[in-house]
Amino acid sequence: MDEPDLRPRRTFAVISHPDAGKSTLTEALALHAAVIAEAGAVHGKGGRKGTVSDWMEMEKARGISITSAALQFAYGDHVVNLVDTPGHADFSEDTYRVLSAVDSAVMLVDAAKGLEPQTLKLFQVCAHRGIPVITVINKWDRPGLDPLELLDSIEKQIGLRPTPLTWPVGVAGDFRGVLDRRTGGFVRYTRTAGGSTRAPEEHLDAEAAAAAEPERWAEAQEGHELLSADGADHDQESFLAGRTTPVLFASALSNFGVAQLLGVLLELAPPPGPTTAVDESERQPDDDFSAFVFKVQSGMDTAHRDRLAYARVCSGTFERGMVVTHATTGRPFTTKYAQAVFGRERTSVERARPGDIIGLVNASALRVGDTIHAGPPVRYPPIASFAPEHFATVSVTDTGRWKQFRKGIEQLDQEGVIQVLRSELRGEHAPVLAAVGPMQFEVVTSRMEAEYRAPVRLEHLDYSIARRVDPEQRDEVAALRGVEVMQRTDGVLLALFSDRWRLEAIERMNPHLDLQALVAGRG
Ligand code: G4P
Repeated sequence: MDEPDLRPRRTFAVISHPDAGKSTLTEALALHAAVIAEAGAVHGKGGRKGTVSDWMEMEKARGISITSAALQFAYGDHVVNLVDTPGHADFSEDTYRVLSAVDSAVMLVDAAKGLEPQTLKLFQVCAHRGIPVITVINKWDRPGLDPLELLDSIEKQIGLRPTPLTWPVGVAGDFRGVLDRRTGGFVRYTRTAGGSTRAPEEHLDAEAAAAAEPERWAEAQEGHELLSADGADHDQESFLAGRTTPVLFASALSNFGVAQLLGVLLELAPPPGPTTAVDESERQPDDDFSAFVFKVQSGMDTAHRDRLAYARVCSGTFERGMVVTHATTGRPFTTKYAQAVFGRERTSVERARPGDIIGLVNASALRVGDTIHAGPPVRYPPIASFAPEHFATVSVTDTGRWKQFRKGIEQLDQEGVIQVLRSELRGEHAPVLAAVGPMQFEVVTSRMEAEYRAPVRLEHLDYSIARRVDPEQRDEVAALRGVEVMQRTDGVLLALFSDRWRLEAIERMNPHLDLQALVAGRG
């Protein structure tokens, strides 16, 4: 039997606004690590080799990636796991769940666009989780914003203090390379022929840099000293605590900065650590096997109705075929079919170590937030769900498809595509769907039709705020004018309000009511 690959792991996700270059960067990272021989195998845009990311028509039309997958590659003496995230703020709840499976995140910013309002929500989710964030300013080969302005907006709008590891030599659009602030050397950008996978970098010491680029080097030096005077130097402890973010300048399209990013991930990003359980005990990476499900997905392959539960290994060694315990039910769960999924590629996983992502096939019993384990029982805390801000009733247009409708809604609920709310008043036939972003409704509509052949009708409701209600106050709250109380599938009672003013007025008039804001709202 093969030995498990014990090399240290780095598990991270890239968070970015659509078009900031996430696919390009993913591809460049993979190419640099020499796992993918042919450019374009990672994403399905522009008629290149297709991947899971084009499994849904809607995604194709919008060119955004809704599905998640994990890419694993070896780099140096490490194994790197890159977990994909959706690229749209409407799916920030999904991103939040993915972030529970990684040890660090890379925040990718388009140098010309800076922090776009859409992106901000995703980035704030990232900062909110408190995981270490590395910032990459991309497309530096093109004209862009002033780097100090970019840093300033990151600090002001996200609340992370930027500590650049590199500083541009030459301005965006006339990019000569970067000053490595830790070594004081010059990483010169050398244009290489298109399609080259090699990092177009040449390393010069400060003296050679000053000779090669006298003016631009002096300017970069000045910038570097200014940053140091301002205390914007990397500090490992503040980075790990999620207070500061190291910054790199890159051009993913020309592979510049890619080797630096991999180097920083290996050197500074944290390895998988202990995982805290519900009872606050800690499972160490070398303890018995345990993992938690952060994503459930079905309908990826229209030919086979399958259902995959993605789990992050928290401790121990996973071996395909092992029988583990499903913590929620206490029942045994066989892991005969375990896969690594990236793009359309699926390979059997024989073994996995802490930090790795496994896809469990036909895992109909597994839900997002569930724990599976071997050895002594352990249960990890559930992943908080977001405060929904959009609400609509959903009903089937063809009553003959009622059974399929019910099944579809139940599955999309379990996958976390949408939250489902019910009440006696509204009945079973028209439950209320609650979303963080309206695009989630489009996903429901299109998947109900494509996968369950049960076209649905949505009717938007005039609510925009939900508050958690104490079961003892349920009737009292429900009797208030303009408020509706519904139950979410996880049992939580939610009171829905049209707007903040209505909520505030009710709170003022009924100070004894306990209307709690939901955790992890996007604020
Ligand atoms: P996404 O996954 O974040 O949505 O972005 P993607 O990588 O698809 O990149 C969006 C566009 O930005 C692509 O151009 C891509 O080539 C370009 N791009 C990415 N990184 C860089 C960079 O470092 N410099 C420059 N100049 N451009 C970059 P496109 O024309 O929309 O698509 P394509 O035809 O090149 O695929």
